[in-house]
Amino acid sequence: MKIISNPLELKEYLHVVKGPVGFVPTMGALHEGHISLIKKAREENDFVVVSIFLNPTQFLKGEDLDSYPKKDDADKKICEMSGIDVLFFPQVDDVYCRDEVTLNAPNVRGFVLEGNSRPSHFNGVLTVVMKLLNIVSPTRAYFGKKDAQQLNLISLMVKQLFMSVEIVPVDTIRDSDGLALSSRNAYLSKAERVEALKISSSLYRAGSLVSKNILETDEIKKEMRETLDGLEIFYVEILNRDFEQLLHVELGNTVILVEVKVGNTRLLDNIWL
Ligand code: PAJ
Repeated sequence: MKIISNPLELKEYLHVVKGPVGFVPTMGALHEGHISLIKKAREENDFVVVSIFLNPTQFLKGEDLDSYPKKDDADKKICEMSGIDVLFFPQVDDVYCRDEVTLNAPNVRGFVLEGNSRPSHFNGVLTVVMKLLNIVSPTRAYFGKKDAQQLNLISLMVKQLFMSVEIVPVDTIRDSDGLALSSRNAYLSKAERVEALKISSSLYRAGSLVSKNILETDEIKKEMRETLDGLEIFYVEILNRDFEQLLHVELGNTVILVEVKVGNTRLLDNIWL
């Protein structure tokens, strides 16, 4: 595995690579969720690039940029053991200049749900993902369904800006008790971790209602909110795959999304029906 921090050096290195290139962008503190993206990229491509870059522009003032878990040595080992070809590991100055060109998330879809409570978040995500995709020029790039709105906006960006990369969605990996894996789970105390199980429970409850043919979204959201009782709820939404409101669940075209705060930790999760 080669480790490269300079974008132009990486571009030059990748220039001679033949065959499909798979790319997995991350912010580090790697867990089984990230590893499942890497495995899929490894299966589907001849060459695999992973990036670890804690992107400052997607954090708002007062958020957890400074305390975000950092596990550089363990991350490098995981990448090495996963059999990737290149780890892109830039510093902030390698990626950003002063007086930057930036991308804006779309006015509606970028500023609802997570974008409502974190208004500039998706501008930062789209800007960095655009930069990373331009540096790596992959055939395919892998993103988790866990961050459904991020995945939706990146797919939209690639389509609307006529970019030549296939965006591949990857299923959410959970702990055996149902909690979706997240680098931010490291912030949870034992008691908070137990509280956090209400998130997946609320989604399972929604799934069970749908299996009983209760499809009215208001009814499902009400029951989900009951399960989430005691947590600060940012949103509970039932949308179609284009992120538009649904009155009734449409099987094969529905995403049920939850974002809550457990203690000081913001956690999100969703299921696709
Ligand atoms: P990060 O939170 O490190 O996540 C990197 C990728 O791993 C994202 O595509 C995310 O959806 C996926 N992922 C996280 N938890 C997962 C889980 N439990 N199961 C499956 N996939 C999971 O998302 C980001 O970084 C950043 O916003 C980034 C896209 C790298 C831009 O800075």
